[in-house]
Amino acid sequence: MAYRVQPLLSADRIAERVGELGVEITRDYSGRNLVLVGVLKGSFVFAADLMRAIDLPMQVDFLGVRSYGEGTVASGVVQITQDLSHPIEQADILLVEDIIDTGLTVAHLMKLLATRSPASVAVCALLHKPARARVASQIDYLGFTVEDRFLVGYGLDFAERYRNLPYIGVLDEASQGAEEENLTARTPKTSGLEPPKS
Ligand code: IMP
Ligand code: MG
Repeated sequence: MAYRVQPLLSADRIAERVGELGVEITRDYSGRNLVLVGVLKGSFVFAADLMRAIDLPMQVDFLGVRSYGEGTVASGVVQITQDLSHPIEQADILLVEDIIDTGLTVAHLMKLLATRSPASVAVCALLHKPARARVASQIDYLGFTVEDRFLVGYGLDFAERYRNLPYIGVLDEASQGAEEENLTARTPKTSGLEPPKS
């Protein structure tokens, strides 16, 4: 059974929106002590583009988090797999997330960061799936609101695959079950690397 990824947000559309977010953040953080904190792994592509759209002196750091197993259902368990490399006292933290789904990851990370006396903590998420929210999320900068579909590409994965797609697409649900069964057994027939149609 083949995998299919239906293009949803083209690379150009993402780049345009990331540029707009960069302008907003540049305006809001002028004269402050900005530290971008990317949530690994999903946000590393977004964080890399976003930081280059910010025209300010700033630092970047990463937090490693695991909130999903090898499937597409939120476990509700948030595990820190990698901590920040520097203290964040007095820093203006901008937490960068690929997608806010149930909101559990961001809620957990906000609590964790607050214990370290930063000057401020704000959230920048590329995507938000409000249909699946289990807790209210603080989102200060948002790229796109999306429907309740499982998305891959531009850093987002399904079982660690598809992060390298330059666009964001919907993983075809009919092929998901097949993928779960065959994860270790075979590689996909179609890689999902077709160029976006929109
Ligand atoms: P939350 O804790 O449920 O808000 O989950 C947030 C994390 O789950 C995101 O940072 C992603 O890593 C992952 N996630 C949620 N929805 C999707 C999706 O549609 N595709 C890929 N990963 C997702
Ligand atoms: Mg993530």
